[in-house]
Amino acid sequence: MPVILGIESSCDETSASVCVDGQILSNVIANQTIHEAYGGVVPELASRVHQQNIVPAVQQALLNAKVNKNDIDAVAFTRGPGLLGSLLVGVSFAKAFALAQKLPLIDINHMQAHILAHFIGDHKPVFPFLCLTVSGGHTQIVLVKDYFDMEVIGQTIDDAAGEAMDKTSKILGLPYPGGPLIDKYARLGNADAYKFPEPQIPGLDFSFSGLKTSILYFIRDNVAKNPDFISENLPDICASVEKRIVTILLNKLQKAAEANGIKQIALAGGVSANTGLRLGLQALCMEKGWESFIPKMEYCTDNAAMIAIAGHYKYLNGDFAGQEIAPLARMIF
Ligand code: KG4
Ligand code: ZN
Repeated sequence: MPVILGIESSCDETSASVCVDGQILSNVIANQTIHEAYGGVVPELASRVHQQNIVPAVQQALLNAKVNKNDIDAVAFTRGPGLLGSLLVGVSFAKAFALAQKLPLIDINHMQAHILAHFIGDHKPVFPFLCLTVSGGHTQIVLVKDYFDMEVIGQTIDDAAGEAMDKTSKILGLPYPGGPLIDKYARLGNADAYKFPEPQIPGLDFSFSGLKTSILYFIRDNVAKNPDFISENLPDICASVEKRIVTILLNKLQKAAEANGIKQIALAGGVSANTGLRLGLQALCMEKGWESFIPKMEYCTDNAAMIAIAGHYKYLNGDFAGQEIAPLARMIF
């Protein structure tokens, strides 16, 4: 009945979670609002705020779970991928805590953890399944064969889907992070108001940079004719952009599922919080007779519960790291 403390600090969320025997008892997330003023995450600021937040986040996670620090069996932490300065805070904390408490360390790949968040709760997928992992830095179709046996069978050749959301919102003059705002306005608009191109990329790979350019030119040309174009049409623009991004993602996901004969399809990563994508996957799975796995909102964006649950399975495998472990900003599966 392992008690795992999970630590996440790869980008701009400082998070700590306690997992007891595969059950998440707490998941404390300290968001960083300081970046809003800069229109994106400023790495140096992010790591400084992590330093301020990490100890209170862990204390709160232990308190919420009603777990004493002496009851912990192992410390799981995000090793990468992510911002090096941010990762360093979580890794250093985990190492120091483990040293002081004489505990084993468990290093976790953040992208694998997004997928393993599906093993929190009762509705768990069965291997092998497909997972569309869509975040601010990644867009991947992953064939998940086992907890730690995953193969990326399709990925973006340029921007990530979350980046496309965030860059669109920037073009529209909306604050960072833009994804949730695109989602909010999209609910109020007509998704067929404007047509944006679908890139013709062979195989299971994605591309979003051409779409970004076409949105930029579309807005520029319309604002030249009508300076109030954005404010008068914001919901329709957001709904149309969201629809295009979602259809690009789901068309490739469908292709991947059919090519591999897989009927269990999961979503993961920050963009899986998107309403259009969640509804779109449900509709696709309903039509095809597939089963969809959509994470709870709190497990879509970055959180330590996914690190703790991944740590739980690594603990069961006896897969531990040593004190010499260092973060990896660019980490593949
Ligand atoms: O996984 P995540 O929290 O951090 C990374 O590892 O990147 O993903 C963040 C991304 C951002 O691009 C953000 O705009 C996007 O997820 N996002 C959304 C929504 N919520 C977050 N995109 C669209 N709709 C949302 N509701
Ligand atoms: Zn993430």
